[in-house]
Amino acid sequence: MKVSGGLALWCAAALLLCIPAAVRCAIRRLNSIDDLKKVNFGQAVPKHSLLLLHWFANTVDMDNNDVIRLTFDPNLGTYGSHHYGNYERLLNPLPRGDFRYRYYTVGNVNRGQSDLPDYVLEPPDAEYRERGNRGRIVFRVRDQDGQTVDQVYLTQHYGNSHETRYDPAYTYQITGNLLRQIRAFAVGAPQRNVLAELAEDFGSHVDQSQLWLLTITWRDLACLGLLLYMIVEEKHLQGKLPPPPPPHCVVDIPDPAGSHRLDPRRWPGLRDGVRLQVTTGENGRARILWGGVPINQLMEGAMVVLYKDNNSQEAMFSKVIRSDWGDVDTSVRLNGGLQARLHKTKTKWCLWTTAAEEICRGGQFANPDKVPLSGHQASLQLFVKDGKACARLFVDKSFANWKREFSESWVAFYANPLKSTQDYEWWRWQWATEFKAAPDALDDFHDVYEYRSNLTVAPGIQARFILRNDTVLAKTSSWR
Ligand SMILES: *[C@@H]1O[C@H](CO)[C@@H](O)[C@H](O)[C@H]1NC(C)=O
Ligand SMILES: *[C@@H]1O[C@H](CO)[C@@H](O)[C@H](O)[C@H]1NC(C)=O
Ligand SMILES: *[C@@H]1O[C@H](CO)[C@@H](O)[C@H](O)[C@H]1NC(C)=O
Repeated sequence: MKVSGGLALWCAAALLLCIPAAVRCAIRRLNSIDDLKKVNFGQAVPKHSLLLLHWFANTVDMDNNDVIRLTFDPNLGTYGSHHYGNYERLLNPLPRGDFRYRYYTVGNVNRGQSDLPDYVLEPPDAEYRERGNRGRIVFRVRDQDGQTVDQVYLTQHYGNSHETRYDPAYTYQITGNLLRQIRAFAVGAPQRNVLAELAEDFGSHVDQSQLWLLTITWRDLACLGLLLYMIVEEKHLQGKLPPPPPPHCVVDIPDPAGSHRLDPRRWPGLRDGVRLQVTTGENGRARILWGGVPINQLMEGAMVVLYKDNNSQEAMFSKVIRSDWGDVDTSVRLNGGLQARLHKTKTKWCLWTTAAEEICRGGQFANPDKVPLSGHQASLQLFVKDGKACARLFVDKSFANWKREFSESWVAFYANPLKSTQDYEWWRWQWATEFKAAPDALDDFHDVYEYRSNLTVAPGIQARFILRNDTVLAKTSSWR
């Protein structure tokens, strides 16, 4: 009652103050990232609207006085933009008779109608994809050259039907100050310390493991990932941080130099010689990283080659290299055992280059170790088979009644270690008793059972063993 009373008073005051423009007064103004946190993104307002806002903030030019200038012509329909008539009087009516002012709208993500960049249409985290195509940016252009913007709004179509009008209840004016803050989170591969500083500047308590996850999920867009995390997720975390992991569960943070698309020049021990490594690439394929290849070797000709394992002599993928460090995404599905080797090259009939004598080889790609199920003679391993996430259950031969004990137990895959138990990947779980016997995973002390999901393996993925309902017995470390 108190709240609505206050609201009524506020509305009355607002009406008194600006009767000719009562509509405008109803629109909330967002002046900072802290203001953005008060908007209910993910519920009433699509999370995707934040991507639109980030894109817009980083696409316009701004000078030191927060004067905003377009870098595209909305009259040409660039990015799917077009004139917005404001016929329902969502926004301030334009000054009568002054034709320099116009409203435009942008943000339609329909394929074919939109040339918005890929990260807006297909963000790396599916949570931020547009589902209803509702969010829009409306901006007001002020002068004859059609380039200076004096007002910016975030709005959205009504959610119920194919309603074309915008919903005034979820229309927000965006100030130049807020746009400038968002511009601090521009696209471009950030160093980890830059991310940490950015987080600190804006009062975020994001920790190292979260920063690492953001880096591997969003890569070049990690600053944007951080912004979204701060606005959407962190505000919910306050007061209910995830419980500390049980002692056997190591959420390890790999050395950033050890994996992924990070600069192999900073690998430890590189001065000792050539380094070769197989890691997880895109779409469950193997990626080869190399570093420390001597220049004279490059001049003579060098090639990275992928093999099934240390015993194989059959190349699955090869690429001539011309720099002493780098990475390459292969077409080979990821499996345990894969190995990268460095070869000299030879040219056949002056035409094509093939692998010659081997120079050296890296270690085999290894699945992570199994983790024990607390209080039971069994353990759980996350592994990869042809690029898909799989789980293996090792049951001690002495644990004869395991099927009864685990009759309600299940194993599920999670996108990252911060997900709650209920928030497993859709369809990616299986009853423990439905696991298939795995004869090739020979072991004298255990019976081994497997579940192969169709979830493409990617950094961050974790498997958990759930005894029943909420009792989690094991969490694997997250996939690198
Ligand atoms: C890999 O193969 C090489 C050559 O056959 C052999 O010398 C080496 O011991 C093997 N390494 C492992 C770890 O099996
Ligand atoms: C994965 O498996 C589930 C259940 O069997 C199925 O509904 C889904 O379409 C599959 N997804 C892919 C990408 O194959
Ligand atoms: C699991 O949850 C269901 C529904 O919430 C409940 O009825 C059941 O008793 C729970 N089982 C256990 C073993 O806690």
